[in-house]
Amino acid sequence: MPTMTDFDVTAVRARFPSLAREVAGRPIVYLDGPGGTQVPGWCLDGIRDYLTTHNTNTHGAFPTSIESDALVAEAHAAAADFLGGTADEVAFGANATTITFAMSRAIGRTLRAGDEIVVTRLDHDCNVAPWLALQDDCGVVVRWVDVRTDDCTLDDDSLAAALGPRTRLVAVGLASNAVGTINPVRRIADAAHAVGAHVWVDAVHAAPHLPIDVAALGADFLVCSPYKFFGPHMGLLWGRRSLLEALPVYKVRPADDTLPSRLETGTQAHEAQAGLLGTFRYLEWLGVEQGGAAGEPGTREGRRARLQAAMSAIRGYERSLTSPLIDGLSAIPGLEIHGITDRTRFDERCPTVAFTLEGHHPREVSRALGERAICTWDGDYYAYELIRALGLAESGGMVRVGLAHYNTTDEIDALVEAVSEIAAG
Ligand SMILES: Cc1ncc(COP(=O)(O)O)c(C=O)c1O
Repeated sequence: MPTMTDFDVTAVRARFPSLAREVAGRPIVYLDGPGGTQVPGWCLDGIRDYLTTHNTNTHGAFPTSIESDALVAEAHAAAADFLGGTADEVAFGANATTITFAMSRAIGRTLRAGDEIVVTRLDHDCNVAPWLALQDDCGVVVRWVDVRTDDCTLDDDSLAAALGPRTRLVAVGLASNAVGTINPVRRIADAAHAVGAHVWVDAVHAAPHLPIDVAALGADFLVCSPYKFFGPHMGLLWGRRSLLEALPVYKVRPADDTLPSRLETGTQAHEAQAGLLGTFRYLEWLGVEQGGAAGEPGTREGRRARLQAAMSAIRGYERSLTSPLIDGLSAIPGLEIHGITDRTRFDERCPTVAFTLEGHHPREVSRALGERAICTWDGDYYAYELIRALGLAESGGMVRVGLAHYNTTDEIDALVEAVSEIAAG
């Protein structure tokens, strides 16, 4: 695993044009990645090239349409290589929330009153609200997994109590977008499968930080959002083929009923798929340059190997940034980090760190950081239940610092210095 010293972050940053931006003479520091990351130049090139050269709709008998069909097929194949599935098991959509609502409605058609769905209090509401809606739609019973507020991890006893013979689906996040906790999804999936339930994984926050392998996770469905992992604004779904084929999805009558088309309603953002191919090209470059991947060029296996190597390199580098970030923030008087701070447990978190600062409203802190060109989020970021469990809903939530692999130790130092100044008033 690459460490801080052998990961060439300068070479990485050179691939991201937006990182060169300055605000009022200061270099901008992007610590807002959990709300959307920056994109490499190849992503921009893909979008521009599509709209200038190939722009049209699919399934026509003329050159640009034939090219668009090829591009769409390639984007599905590459996304499948990123997640570990096959191309027909992958579908695109507007974003993860829209996909989850659409799929939950289709899944709801297969459920009966009294069937149970398990959700967690650590998840983004994208993986809660769609399942809660099924209570009214079809009489489903929702069971909750609680969160341990001392370290912001899921409560095992609560999970065990929530599962039962009527459980049909367990909806769980791979990583918390608020506090960075990585959930033991494989263990949860095994427990869910043992009672005959399917597992819906929200990997939106995990995707920019971890290699994903849907089979190793034991997922039945998984969603993520390319705009959170260095790509364009769009959503991405993977599902097990047998389940996707059987699902009574909502669709217009003459639409193609084969996978993945049966899951994709209306016209997709082809330019975004072209941009996403550029993002995968960047990640393959990273996998070779910094992850030591070889993999045969032009093969699906080769691309999968390079993408996995890239994500492992990212994981290793980000892991090495976690200590300076947490140590630096923890030393500030009045600052409290919510989530895992024990350095022997950093494998259980990604470098997304949320804190409160005594005597300072989170919006005030984030605004003061913004004035120094340091971009952070404040509030609840739709981690609706967690913020309430922590008792922070009435006081503005938390300030969230989200590192990505293009961030540096200098940027962490700048952040810590700025928060120290704000704390000192
Ligand atoms: C963990 C998690 N799930 C879901 C979402 C929603 O994603 P989208 O904006 O693609 O609907 C987010 C966005 O912040 C997220 O962080």
